[in-house]
Amino acid sequence: MSMRKLRILTGDRTTGRLHLGHYVGSLQNRAAMQHEFDTFILLADVQALTTHFSNPELLYDSIYDVAIDNLSVGLDPEVVTVIQQSGVHSIAEMTIFYSMLISVNALRHNPTIKTEAKNYGYSDLSYGFLGYPVSQAADITFCNADVVPVGEDQVPHIELTRKIVRKFNDMYHTSITEPQAKLSVVSRLSGLDGNAKMGKSLGNAIYLSDTPKEVQNKVRKAVTDPARITKDIPGNPDICNVAKYHKIFTPGEYDNICSMCRSASIGCVACKKILTGSLNTLLDPMREKRAYYEEHKDEVTQIIHAGTEKANRIGDETVRMMKDAMHISI
Ligand code: TRP
Repeated sequence: MSMRKLRILTGDRTTGRLHLGHYVGSLQNRAAMQHEFDTFILLADVQALTTHFSNPELLYDSIYDVAIDNLSVGLDPEVVTVIQQSGVHSIAEMTIFYSMLISVNALRHNPTIKTEAKNYGYSDLSYGFLGYPVSQAADITFCNADVVPVGEDQVPHIELTRKIVRKFNDMYHTSITEPQAKLSVVSRLSGLDGNAKMGKSLGNAIYLSDTPKEVQNKVRKAVTDPARITKDIPGNPDICNVAKYHKIFTPGEYDNICSMCRSASIGCVACKKILTGSLNTLLDPMREKRAYYEEHKDEVTQIIHAGTEKANRIGDETVRMMKDAMHISI
């Protein structure tokens, strides 16, 4: 008996290129799961507008950048569906329907909204920004996604989605799927500058599209154990960012590198060189795929058009079903 594959939907705001934090938090998982699950990747350009509405050029370029970032990590356009959010009408309609089911206060207390508002310096939130988690619920459920691979900052949004879906289903006797968040093992990557998080708005990111030289320069500037002023002083990998990176990106050598650091038999310069090597080994195959798609942008356009069309077919059916259930179909 053939079972229906479970469906994944996840996505990224199109506000710039993706970085290693996105990779370990979500992209790696997406690539690993693509054959086992029916995978939908959303280019969240409407959500990008909630913070970047006054920067249209960046948004346009980012649609391609984010699409190519996803393809470069090995997502296969033959098996995954790549979708432009603004092209899917049902998402906009469902956002309105769902917005009746959630209070403004619940959105105000959403911890991710709070953190982001603070990071962007917003004191007076726009309706669109405050409401983007509602739109995200529509992103996830227009296609009845079962699983959403995301970083930990997105968990409140998945919880909210579940709450809205439950309420809708209870009220209108529908069976929209309640999605599950799927966290990766490393759901947050700290910045090499010592910041708790790598982020494009924090200016500490290593992008998947960085050149080997850029990676080298960024790693060279990384903050290490501040007490280790010279190479002869033993280091403490427990408080060193570079060590944290080795744990993720040089796992086979991690224990060895830590003991060499503690015994002062390796200095920070040499240690960083190893990390640069590990990162570039990871990024090299991505660079190759990226170069192909940069050369064949029309293929990328085709992939997005085809995926968006498919999403519309699925989403239109969902909206029809919802309207029937709400008794507003005439
Ligand atoms: N909010 C996500 C982020 O900032 C992007 C996103 C939009 C998303 N729609 C989604 C993630 C649906 C998962 C599912 O990265």
